[in-house]
Amino acid sequence: MEEVIEKILLTEKQLDERVTEIARQLDEEYAGKKPLMVCILKGSVMFFADLIRKMKIELSIDFMSISSYGNGVKSSGEVKMIKDLDRKIEGKNVIIVEDIIDSGYTMSYLTKMLSARRPESIKICTLLDKPSRREADVKVDYRGFEIADEFVVGYGLDYAGLYRNFPYIGILKKEVYEK
Ligand code: IMP
Ligand code: MG
Repeated sequence: MEEVIEKILLTEKQLDERVTEIARQLDEEYAGKKPLMVCILKGSVMFFADLIRKMKIELSIDFMSISSYGNGVKSSGEVKMIKDLDRKIEGKNVIIVEDIIDSGYTMSYLTKMLSARRPESIKICTLLDKPSRREADVKVDYRGFEIADEFVVGYGLDYAGLYRNFPYIGILKKEVYEK
């Protein structure tokens, strides 16, 4: 375990098993619908790549980059779009793939913005959910794990741009961000 980690919350095996389950569920519910899987950069890259690789139905992918965090551990409530989707989503069955929903501001902003583009449907698939921190109303359609109010890194999630490469999800030592 890396030295900035207090405790491993989700092992590679737990992540793999849960991602497989979500992939099976999406395969069933989206059969014949050719969903457009939207990866929210950068945090969901690992989850996204693993998830779509396990799916067997026809699908397409696109990427969007937004940020609601500076270098801190709390949401600013302000959402900034850094990169929009390449293609139109009108008439498509969109699945937004996110790493974690915390205050909910990011997803609430994003679903409103994308719904205005008239997709056939739009659903949210998040690996992690911290429901105790919710401030904005978000309907989570697919959820990997519910976690407590702790700052986690790894498997795509970062603190100040670091630790995304850890293969597991771990609780970051407080001393790392309370300096
Ligand atoms: P929200 O707008 O507060 O829901 O923030 C969601 C975004 O905050 C996520 O996409 C992450 O980038 C970031 N975030 C929230 N909690 C954590 C955490 O525990 N570790 C790393 N990033 C987090
Ligand atoms: Mg993010």
